[in-house]
Amino acid sequence: MKKQKGSSDRVQTGIPGLDSLMEGGFIKGSIISLCGDSGTGKTIFGLQFLHEGAVKHDEPGLYLSFDEHKRSMFRNMQRFGWDLAKLEKDKKLLVIEYPPYEVDHFASQESVIHDLIDRLGVQRMVVDSVTPVALLYEGEQKRRQGLLRLIERIRNWEVTSILVSESVGDVSIGTPRSRYGIEFLSEGLIYLYNMRRKNYRDRALEIIKMRGVAHANKVCPMKITSKGMSVYPKQQFFEE
Ligand SMILES: Nc1ncnc2c1ncn2[C@@H]1O[C@H](COP(=O)(O)OP(=O)(O)OP(=O)(O)O)[C@@H](O)[C@H]1O
Ligand SMILES: [Mg+2]
Repeated sequence: MKKQKGSSDRVQTGIPGLDSLMEGGFIKGSIISLCGDSGTGKTIFGLQFLHEGAVKHDEPGLYLSFDEHKRSMFRNMQRFGWDLAKLEKDKKLLVIEYPPYEVDHFASQESVIHDLIDRLGVQRMVVDSVTPVALLYEGEQKRRQGLLRLIERIRNWEVTSILVSESVGDVSIGTPRSRYGIEFLSEGLIYLYNMRRKNYRDRALEIIKMRGVAHANKVCPMKITSKGMSVYPKQQFFEE
């Protein structure tokens, strides 16, 4: 297979069909926003990315969970054949849970997390989601400063990161956006759709931006099957 331009510094996502849309994967060390409404597959995307790193590339991953319980998440992901508990035992995956009343602990644990990243050699990270962190700050200006600080911290950790956030507004009008505009502070924005067509829904994925990358400008059909998430770049996603 022809080597894609710059693929040596690319981080493969593990989502079939996706890397070919962006010259081979995420740029190593970049921070990518992943955005979509509830149930569009954000958590599955994030864990598939970490699973790929741990199983195929010997790249340990860190999952900072603010939304979902580890136990139910691990059980749900077993449906895709991913044994996340074993990966955790083998120190290929680390999951840190922050229940709602402990979100503020996160801000004070920067050095603890940094130590863990160094110790385990973490190379991939997912923050799912940034909303509870954003809600720690009152008022738009403070929130923006807080999120900026968070991103600067993550940048210092030198890991390839996915920041999950919810979408805001009507995606059928203009460019999809995340709540709190986290994409303005990150290198990339990937948007997940679950669009209604008459009496059923269709999933799709779009790379809205990826700094420094000649990425596809296409809303691609996406599916969640028994193997996890897949993107279908050669198929058309028709609007009605
Ligand atoms: N085994 C499976 N087979 C097919 N589809 C599945 C399977 N497991 C989950 N799904 C689909 O994926 C959706 C959940 O995906 P996920 O939890 O990643 O969404 P999310 O965007 O993180 O949602 P939230 O905003 O609630 O956190 C389910 O609602 C379901 O439609
Ligand atoms: Mg989720």
